[in-house]
Amino acid sequence: MSLEKTVDPQIEAIIKKASRFGFELNHYKTTFLKRRIDVRLRTRGVRDYSEYSELLDSAESGALFKSISINVTEFFRDKEVFSYLTQDLLPKISEKTSTIRIWSAGCATGEEPHSLAILLNEICKKQSKSFKIFATDISSKAVETAKTGIYPSLALKNLPPELFTKYFTAKQDGNHISDEIRSNITFNVADLTTFEIKLLDVIVCRNVFIYYTKETQDMILKKFHSCLKDTGHLVLGMDEGIRAEQTKLFESINPRLRIYRKVIQ
Ligand SMILES: C[S@@+](CC[C@H](N)C(=O)[O-])C[C@H]1O[C@@H](n2cnc3c(N)ncnc32)[C@H](O)[C@@H]1O
Repeated sequence: MSLEKTVDPQIEAIIKKASRFGFELNHYKTTFLKRRIDVRLRTRGVRDYSEYSELLDSAESGALFKSISINVTEFFRDKEVFSYLTQDLLPKISEKTSTIRIWSAGCATGEEPHSLAILLNEICKKQSKSFKIFATDISSKAVETAKTGIYPSLALKNLPPELFTKYFTAKQDGNHISDEIRSNITFNVADLTTFEIKLLDVIVCRNVFIYYTKETQDMILKKFHSCLKDTGHLVLGMDEGIRAEQTKLFESINPRLRIYRKVIQ
């Protein structure tokens, strides 16, 4: 994978050194990497990139990598997107297939796939259909949390009260999502730059794409295109988008909400 042109050779040196310890940072945008390295510089109390490079051992490379995998998320993040999925896209897909297959790529601590599972459960019950969600993240710690299905109330602030009552049990250690929902999701640790799942109806990859170089974004889009059924759709984050060159792969069906349909080639 080619690097985005880096003006600062010291950043390239950090990328190379971290890669020796098994942490691949070369897919990320230089501006994003710099911001995260600056945070580590302050945490470790060093003055500049060359001093930081000196102390990059396996543990520090891991700490830097962890700070790059920002796991911020919540249930029904960007409510409008989830409303559109519920009212428009998912019912239409459900009409055409017996089992809806969705990949939540970059699922963080699981709020996104669990939100999708709640919506799909509502839709599929009405239509006597089933669904399967494949949820992956590069962070093993995030996936561990996702697998528990236990969430603090703050993560659920966008959840309509009737769905809370239906799908959660409040306990002392947090709000537990029902087994009915959890049984439809498989969580795995996987790097979306190297991992793939085929025959999907929808790929939801929100607020992940934005951190990658153009070259890596293009590579991921090609892969997503091949992973989707011909009738498949892609949902990106609201601050992300597809460049003009990539409209041969995906056409927008809702430009504001960043929802795309696969273009059959
Ligand atoms: C900001 S969170 C977004 C979570 C969720 N998609 C949402 O929009 O609420 C970004 C997640 O992407 C994950 N991530 C970053 N690079 C990844 C990669 N190459 N493969 C899989 N997950 C990745 C991070 O670990 C993090 O959990």
